Amino acid sequence: MKTYTIAAIPADGIGVEVIAAGIEVLDALAEKAGSFAFTFDHFDWGSDYYKAHGVMMPADGRDRIRNHDAIFFGAVGAPDVPDHITLWGLRLAICQPFDQYANVRPTRILPGITSPLRHVSGPELDWVIVRENSEGEYAGVGGRVHQGHPNEVATDVSMMTRSGVDRIIRYAFHLARSRPRKLLTVVTKSNAQRHAMVMWDEIAAEVARDFPDVTWDKMLVDAMTMRMVMKPGTLDTIVATNLHADILSDLAAALAGSLGIAPTANINPERTFPSMFEPIHGSAFDIAGKGIANPVATFWTACQMLEHLGEKPAADRLMRAVERVTADPTLHTPDLGGTATTRQVTDAVLAAIRGDNT
Ligand code: IPM
Ligand code: MG
Repeated sequence: MKTYTIAAIPADGIGVEVIAAGIEVLDALAEKAGSFAFTFDHFDWGSDYYKAHGVMMPADGRDRIRNHDAIFFGAVGAPDVPDHITLWGLRLAICQPFDQYANVRPTRILPGITSPLRHVSGPELDWVIVRENSEGEYAGVGGRVHQGHPNEVATDVSMMTRSGVDRIIRYAFHLARSRPRKLLTVVTKSNAQRHAMVMWDEIAAEVARDFPDVTWDKMLVDAMTMRMVMKPGTLDTIVATNLHADILSDLAAALAGSLGIAPTANINPERTFPSMFEPIHGSAFDIAGKGIANPVATFWTACQMLEHLGEKPAADRLMRAVERVTADPTLHTPDLGGTATTRQVTDAVLAAIRGDNT
């Protein structure tokens, strides 16, 4: 029997609650399948660790998770630690050195969930956003001098490399090809950003030649926000830079009904390093510890993890279970306007998994 070793890093806020729920569900899927199992190694890194040790994770942190099959990650961010410390100290400190350059964010309106878009229900909104996850606006290049003086200077330099752009666009074309509509939209801002984004466009056109069966178009990021709202059915796979996709993916999550549902996978496609799976929603300290966090985003990212591990039937079973549960409004958590608890939703998903004999 195959055993997958997973590094669980729940980190901060509701991350702790949703990762615990995700682990229960993954164990139930393994038991149901009977052909694989999980070993979870738990790491207590995050903001509490930072307050005790002055760092978000130990110096050898990455070495301790380098050989795991995947990383199951909760959320970072605490009210009393600056956001750039929590982010760069843990999440980006894993994503960037592990070269998880493809950030994959599927969005659909699940059964039982209402989109804020009038007249839009299931099928018209079925997208996957591919976010460049290793460079661009998050390259971390920049600095501040003369702090506090009137002549203070601060820069954040966006860095784009030909190889970095080529590999993410290629990844997006492959993904578009694997989906029924074979449709890719390349998001850009080459009208205003006249160097790197022009190179981005040129590389997209070059890579497109290797994918004659994929229909593609190009969209300025500002116009893209309008198209997502006005003509959601014209989109399928979307590729964008790190920051553009960060913003578009929050819009996508809102249009699909709640940030509590949206998952993300930080993929190292070459599998030189483990990939990392997390809900998009963040640590949500306002509801932490209340037992009302929506675990659906974590279950959905668990599906992405199962697919990455090659366990497609288990991934499909989990998605079926999630969709059965979201279809029942009495099982909606407060972010969806309901009153259900994390425990109730998790129990319902567990029951659906155990009762699913397809
Ligand atoms: C996301 C988040 C992060 C990001 C935050 C927490 C820094 O918004 O995953 O989309 O901007 O990358
Ligand atoms: Mg974001």
